[in-house]
Amino acid sequence: MPVKEFRTPITNKPVLIGPDSNYDNIIFAIESSCDETAAAIVRNGREVLSNVVASQIKTHIEFGGVVPEVAAREHLEAINVVIAQAFEQAGLKAEDITAFAATVGPGLVGSLLVGMNAGKALAIANDKPFIGVNHLNAHVCANYLNTDLKPPFVALLISGGHTQIIEVKDWLDQRIIGETIDDAIGEAYDKVARLIGLPYPGGVNLDKLAQTGNPNAYKLPEAKLSNEYDFSFSGLKTASLQLIQKLRKNNDTLPTADIAASFQENVTSVLFKKTKKAADNINANTIVLAGGVAANSEIRKKFFALREQGYNIYAPEMKYCTDNASMIASSAYFLANTMDSLDIEVFSRMS
Ligand code: KG4
Ligand code: ZN
Repeated sequence: MPVKEFRTPITNKPVLIGPDSNYDNIIFAIESSCDETAAAIVRNGREVLSNVVASQIKTHIEFGGVVPEVAAREHLEAINVVIAQAFEQAGLKAEDITAFAATVGPGLVGSLLVGMNAGKALAIANDKPFIGVNHLNAHVCANYLNTDLKPPFVALLISGGHTQIIEVKDWLDQRIIGETIDDAIGEAYDKVARLIGLPYPGGVNLDKLAQTGNPNAYKLPEAKLSNEYDFSFSGLKTASLQLIQKLRKNNDTLPTADIAASFQENVTSVLFKKTKKAADNINANTIVLAGGVAANSEIRKKFFALREQGYNIYAPEMKYCTDNASMIASSAYFLANTMDSLDIEVFSRMS
């Protein structure tokens, strides 16, 4: 089990973080990588003591998507209130906290800076260690919240920016087996949602509409790739656009529910098929879903059905699928030795 020695910024005292620290780790974490300003307090990586999320959805609806400069300003406005609420909900004070953590990337740089600097300021003001967290690792760690999940497992990470099948051999031993060569799955959802006229946030609205349509109404193409575990969604996006243009010409009203259901069936089948094959090939009996798109009703349905065949299937509770700070705290605890110290800077992409 991982453990890492951190130092407090003012008095340079040692603090052990991780399951082997032999004392309770109470981590205060901040998330601000995209359009949610969030703070949470989590005990020992699993027990959520408070979870506060301020969503910017209302603001971004006006623009039809996230405008980075607008997002950063909204984070600035929300951050102090969200931090205060997280302490209040847990009934804790800064002196009760073992370490402060924040997302440092990948994400929107201006947004990340707001959360990271708030986290560093709290760490310095209270003489506690600061832990910088990778947002992608944290999405997978959302599955440790309120469960007893332990590696090894195969994770399907599906978010607005990433689509990856990851073999998690041990807490800190991970390997990407397959990933998208172009668009991320969440991006594809958001683009097709826009094409059929659904408002932001596209993914969840398309999911809702798809549940009322016929998944077999239209056949959409599946990309053929040299690595059988890789994904490509840009051809599907073009095919969806062509289908919509054709249907617009021939119909008074666009059959949006059938288009949504056909798109959803196509992408969820591909994600399911490839992840199951990867898990079977490496003899993994546990599959873990992670990221915003793991909230999707059809993805959950397809994977949860595998339980009848003896697989262990994990997916975070809905509120921990999309961006939140509890998963950041869990990642700081379980993967503490991936990044640390006040010198750490934000980054926009994985290099
Ligand atoms: O993980 P996340 O909250 O942010 C990133 O780290 O990217 O994921 C956001 C993505 C968006 O593209 C959103 O449209 C998508 O997750 N999403 C969904 C659903 N809920 C959120 N996509 C499909 N079905 C859903 N129910
Ligand atoms: Zn995310």
